[in-house]
Amino acid sequence: MDNIVTVTIDQEKCIGCGLCAKVCFFETITIKDKKAYVTGSESLNCGHCAAICPSDAVKVMSLENDALDYKTFTPDRKWLPYGKGDTAQLVKLMSSRRSCRNYTDKPVEKDVLEDLVRIGTTAPSGTNCQLWTFTILPERKDMIELVERVGKFFKRLNYIARLYPVRKAYSLLGKNELQDYYDQYLEAVETKIDAYDKTGEDFLTHGAQAAIIVGMRPGATCPSEDALLATQNIILAAHSMGLGTCLIGFIVEAVKSDPKIKTFLGIPKEETVYAVIAVGYPDEKYKIQTGRKKPLLRYFNAN
Ligand SMILES: Cc1cc2nc3c(=O)[nH]c(=O)nc-3n(C[C@H](O)[C@H](O)[C@H](O)COP(=O)(O)O)c2cc1C
Ligand code: SF4
Repeated sequence: MDNIVTVTIDQEKCIGCGLCAKVCFFETITIKDKKAYVTGSESLNCGHCAAICPSDAVKVMSLENDALDYKTFTPDRKWLPYGKGDTAQLVKLMSSRRSCRNYTDKPVEKDVLEDLVRIGTTAPSGTNCQLWTFTILPERKDMIELVERVGKFFKRLNYIARLYPVRKAYSLLGKNELQDYYDQYLEAVETKIDAYDKTGEDFLTHGAQAAIIVGMRPGATCPSEDALLATQNIILAAHSMGLGTCLIGFIVEAVKSDPKIKTFLGIPKEETVYAVIAVGYPDEKYKIQTGRKKPLLRYFNAN
């Protein structure tokens, strides 16, 4: 964890209100004689102190100054007070996002992809480590190359999964993944690969022009959570920007299992990939929102 303190306080500006100390998780700041002082030896460098200070006295040096700048739209930088968001509009966005499986040939601009990444990083992260990485594939030709490499991976997997003694051996070792794959996916995957070989129909990324691969560097306290929270931000924002997205779990599996695919993508071996987001301009339009399965909901009451 990188908890070096990078908070500074301008004593001239500080009015000693104590708000920064109140919101500080690590007690990095203390108030003495109606002034704030950095006294702690650790900090999350989260920026709560700077965000709450009424006199602009606090700076967190490790936070990027231009982190709130976007290339394709002008953000409203004012903090949105609790209860002042448009919940109906937010829920409409969330419920209207659909996994997109039909795309036009229009490429996705790099500025748009970079803005999506930046929006991704507004997500929370365990101990504010922000160890996520975003590998962008902006060109369709590279998407096709990826699809072909992943296709080859699944051809090999299908070959192995068809061998009963291998499945049995894995099961005896308590590893049922290969048997589960054989039971649930093998046939469908084989059909899709055959179709790709015959017609070139993209069974994996559905013809998306681009992708954002979300990974994590080592050392994060909650790596999967961080990566997937950023991912959710990206797919929601993409919808609002006129883009369709689809998470491609099959590619995540292939990248995890085949180091050569990771190398091809230029992702260092110590990074773990958690999401592959196919991105493109959608060639589909829906009329209504649909519901979800009834969630299993329970209340806890110890009495
Ligand atoms: C972790 C994860 C992996 C997924 N992998 C794939 C995939 O490989 N291919 C695909 O077409 N859709 C994939 N999906 C999309 C799901 O099928 C989709 O989210 C689900 O059917 C609900 O539909 P919606 O996203 O339109 O609400 C994946 C979704 C998640 C969350
Ligand atoms: S919030 Fe700002 S003004 Fe208030 S004590 Fe902290 S540094 Fe001083």
